[in-house]
Amino acid sequence: MILLSALLFGVFWIGTHAQECEANPSDEYSTTLTISSPDQLRAFDNCTRILGGFDILNNFTGSFVLNSVTNISGFIMFDSLRDPAHGLNALEMANLQWIMGVRLPDATTLSRVQLPSLEVVSEDMKIALAPEGSWFDLAALKRVGSLSIRGLRADASLPSLETVDSVLSINSDPYYGVNVSSTPFNIDLPVLREAGALSFYGQIRNLSLPSLAVLNHDASITTGGLSVRADSVEFPGVSLPSLVEVIGELDFEGHIPRGIRIDLPDFEHTNASIIIKTNSAVEISSSLENLGELYIRGQLTA
Ligand SMILES: *[C@@H]1O[C@H](CO)[C@@H](O)[C@H](O)[C@H]1NC(C)=O
Ligand SMILES: *[C@@H]1O[C@H](CO)[C@@H](O)[C@H](O)[C@H]1NC(C)=O
Ligand SMILES: *[C@@H]1O[C@H](CO)[C@@H](O)[C@H](O)[C@H]1NC(C)=O
Ligand SMILES: *[C@@H]1O[C@H](CO)[C@@H](O)[C@H](O)[C@H]1NC(C)=O
Ligand SMILES: *[C@@H]1O[C@H](CO)[C@@H](O)[C@H](O)[C@H]1NC(C)=O
Ligand SMILES: *[C@@H]1O[C@H](CO)[C@@H](O)[C@H](O)[C@H]1NC(C)=O
Repeated sequence: MILLSALLFGVFWIGTHAQECEANPSDEYSTTLTISSPDQLRAFDNCTRILGGFDILNNFTGSFVLNSVTNISGFIMFDSLRDPAHGLNALEMANLQWIMGVRLPDATTLSRVQLPSLEVVSEDMKIALAPEGSWFDLAALKRVGSLSIRGLRADASLPSLETVDSVLSINSDPYYGVNVSSTPFNIDLPVLREAGALSFYGQIRNLSLPSLAVLNHDASITTGGLSVRADSVEFPGVSLPSLVEVIGELDFEGHIPRGIRIDLPDFEHTNASIIIKTNSAVEISSSLENLGELYIRGQLTA
């Protein structure tokens, strides 16, 4: 009897603490459970590992909370991807370490993404933060396929992120119905070493990439490289002290009255193009000996 009920609920005990659960045990064709209410997640309160994922319907209101889970083998995403739940307020999974992906683009009410233990996103994570005061905690994130954070309202810190297999994009881009943030923010990526493409856009006050060494090493991204468009008057420029290899472009744009400084101390050989478009003064310091193309529109001061 006990065994029968365990099977019916798709629950398997492994050892004494770990409990493996299927997201959608009653459907033999899909491993994804469609949810429209936070209450449906209470069935997973004791699960540590979930096989499958969750589709969030557009009438979902409240927070998505699953604090016991450490591993989700599938995706958490908006149903059909094109139909965001405008009542989703928060994503909170205190113990999650591994997930296939999170696809919550174009959310208009998401103000908190709290995944402090998450170390690996094996495919992609797309989140849009909209309301004033929104924030995210991805303090343990080490490796991600692709990561896109839109509508940034506060400083972005990814203190453990070392590797981005494909694209990392952080911006305060406005999207439908939501005004762009005018609050300057810092982007801090202290240990990021390798990425395919990096794209940063918005009221950036300070961009810190002290460890970045390699961009698009295997040329797997057609538009690999680094793209920065800073619109904050406080932006001092870009320093890339560890950069040694780029396949693709380095693209800097901005409207920065104080001028932009681009610092590439260890960068000697590249076939990359460097594109600088600014209506302010530009100062470049680098040890470059070879380069693909250099395009500057602006006032070169040094
Ligand atoms: C949300 O919509 C689905 C499908 O239309 C429906 O089955 C469900 O009851 C709705 N949930 C709520 C909380 O309104
Ligand atoms: C979780 O475990 C607690 C304590 O063992 C139990 O009371 C509760 O019913 C369980 N919840 C679920 C959804 O299995
Ligand atoms: C989580 O589950 C996935 C898919 O089953 C597996 O590949 C991965 O290694 C697991 N990660 C951890 C930390 O257990
Ligand atoms: C955007 O800003 C304009 C002008 O300040 C305001 O009228 C409008 O209501 C704002 N829209 C939203 C969605 O906050
Ligand atoms: C930018 O951020 C880095 C790391 O947080 C810090 O060391 C540096 O002083 C900051 N630069 C400015 C101009 O604020
Ligand atoms: C730059 O070099 C890489 C690898 O050596 C090559 O794949 C790529 O096509 C080159 N790009 C250009 C613009 O020449």
